[in-house]
Amino acid sequence: MPQIIDGKSISAQIKEEVKEKISALKAQGKTVTLAVIQVGADPASSVYVGNKKKACAYVGIESLAYELPEETTQEELLSLIGNLNRKEEVNGILVQLPLPKHIDEDAVIRAIDAGKDVDGFHPQSVGALCIGQPGFVSCTPAGIIELLKRSGVEIAGKECVVVGRSNIVGKPMALLLLRENGTVTVAHSKTADLKEVTKRADILIVAVGKPKMITRDYVKEGAVVIDVGIHRNENNKLCGDVDYDDVAPVCSAITPVPGGVGPMTIAMLMYNCAEAVK
Ligand code: GUN
Repeated sequence: MPQIIDGKSISAQIKEEVKEKISALKAQGKTVTLAVIQVGADPASSVYVGNKKKACAYVGIESLAYELPEETTQEELLSLIGNLNRKEEVNGILVQLPLPKHIDEDAVIRAIDAGKDVDGFHPQSVGALCIGQPGFVSCTPAGIIELLKRSGVEIAGKECVVVGRSNIVGKPMALLLLRENGTVTVAHSKTADLKEVTKRADILIVAVGKPKMITRDYVKEGAVVIDVGIHRNENNKLCGDVDYDDVAPVCSAITPVPGGVGPMTIAMLMYNCAEAVK
């Protein structure tokens, strides 16, 4: 059977490391503060925001919560972001996505000071990643690199296939794997003969948003399989984009859902917040 890549324990380890870093900063008289903005009351977003606040409390980061009504205008949101940009005691600003339809997400992301962009979504952060300069990196793909490294998976020289090309996961994932000297292919919904492409992968990263889409006929024997998806199936049980029971017997390592990639996102957010203090 494959190695099960344990995101729960690796994320706990990262949170402990961040907690130590925050204590050391406190000893120098520096506090770390994250502003978390939610517009509207989408139940999934409320769960994510709640988990982020809990993680902040655990590692010693102050969190400022802004829970704004659904009717908030774009101007009001941009004005709040402007105020938080100017506040020296605020180190990180996070606007939970998705935003209500009347608000332009790109304009909101662009309004965040790149030095406080702990989500790594600002064009300046993405551009820095693209040309190998320092900057904040999107938390989910950054967490996947940590999962691979801390599980002893070598990336350099490996065939890496990323399925999915979103701005938050697929694209930054490809750039990070390239930075680690992987040979990277990005596949997507228009890719011809997807199975032929995914079967080349030594490291297969799946972020397609379709429950159990990836079965063993997409996977090379001995591949490392990372599943970014999270869905509820017909029995209300969590599952990923990968059909775990079908794929696990043919791969060398795999992330479970839940307990794989999921917990890494918040751990890396905490990491980015600690890095935001300069
Ligand atoms: N919505 C879903 N994932 C994320 C994330 O990582 N950051 C923010 N801000 N919103 C999200």
